[in-house]
Amino acid sequence: MNIITIANRENSKYEVKGRKPLLDELRDQGVDLPYGCKYGGCITCAAKLLEGEVDQRAQVALNNRQINDGYVILCVARAKTDATFEIGVESHDKLYRNPFKDPLQPHELKADIAVPKDY
Ligand code: FES
Repeated sequence: MNIITIANRENSKYEVKGRKPLLDELRDQGVDLPYGCKYGGCITCAAKLLEGEVDQRAQVALNNRQINDGYVILCVARAKTDATFEIGVESHDKLYRNPFKDPLQPHELKADIAVPKDY
């Protein structure tokens, strides 16, 4: 069992058991969270992890830059430790960027198509 703290909802705290993805565990407890596909593909449910660790191996929506900025796909992620998140659109400030002004570098592409930096 882990404790999830939601920093931008007055540090509200929820116990999660890890049997279901965080989106379901938190929604079951009344937390209002945005979502779409529920299989890790659309990015709607992204939240920013401020502290702690999650297992989100099943996600396919985030690129490495977004992962490095702390984004977590709640519909597939499970908590590995106690964790603190920012949720909802307020947490999406660094989720997107203008690809013409600021294009992705090769090492920031999706993990499955990225080439290791020193290849
Ligand atoms: S709801 Fe689509 S990625 Fe989570």
